[in-house]
Amino acid sequence: MAEPHRLRLTRLDRVTSTQDEARILARSGSPGGTVVLAEEQTMGRGREGRAWVSPAGVGLWFTLVHRSGRPLGEWPAVTLAAALGLCRALEEDGLDPRVRWPNDVLLLDRKVAGILADTEGTAVLLGMGINVLQEEGDFPPELASRATSVAIACARGGLRPPDREVFLARVLDSLDATLGIFEREGTPALLGPVWERSALRSRRIALRLPSGEIVQGIAEGLGAVGQLLLRTAGGPRTIVSGTKTDVLPEIDKEGP
Ligand code: BTN
Repeated sequence: MAEPHRLRLTRLDRVTSTQDEARILARSGSPGGTVVLAEEQTMGRGREGRAWVSPAGVGLWFTLVHRSGRPLGEWPAVTLAAALGLCRALEEDGLDPRVRWPNDVLLLDRKVAGILADTEGTAVLLGMGINVLQEEGDFPPELASRATSVAIACARGGLRPPDREVFLARVLDSLDATLGIFEREGTPALLGPVWERSALRSRRIALRLPSGEIVQGIAEGLGAVGQLLLRTAGGPRTIVSGTKTDVLPEIDKEGP
């Protein structure tokens, strides 16, 4: 029988953001493995200050306080551990998820989950928003063409939609396992499994850097601490942090 996970779950009804709640807990010394889950977030946050739509009853909105023993330079790979954990949980449901570097998980080319990693002292606040039970038409118009849910992907694949509680337990077990791998073995142990599931693998992409620069090239792999390795017209680039990542049409397979 699988070992029960070491994560401790606190359930809240309605919060601004589970990142705020987790930050308070982390500041007051809550141990690693503390998970704050809210039924609804009134001010759910995505990356770069974007809003994360978090209505009641349909998703899993939670933040895990992770206290890492790895060197600080490896902490960005906590996001990869989380993405891999979620992918493995989705695969147990018969789905075929992809990781869109750095922080999205996709089903059928649409975003099913986003990951937001903040830090608070010695803790990583690993926020995950997973669309689970939304139906077509439930997403606001601006997200409708880009977002999906586990239930929608299951319906497309002729699979039964998951029970949200069963799925939550599976996700937490899986996260516990992949964060454990990261802590014991370090980032290299994650790179192969994440790249195998990458939506960008060998694809021509355009990526916006935090500086605003747009970089185009072919995604060739992941660097030692999870950076994206790009082949661009100007030579190889190692991308540490990207924001909006688009896969471009395959106009030319040969050069960047
Ligand atoms: C993104 O894709 O931009 C990241 C989205 C992260 C959303 C989750 S939901 C739980 C946690 N609380 C938040 O306010 N944000 C994260």
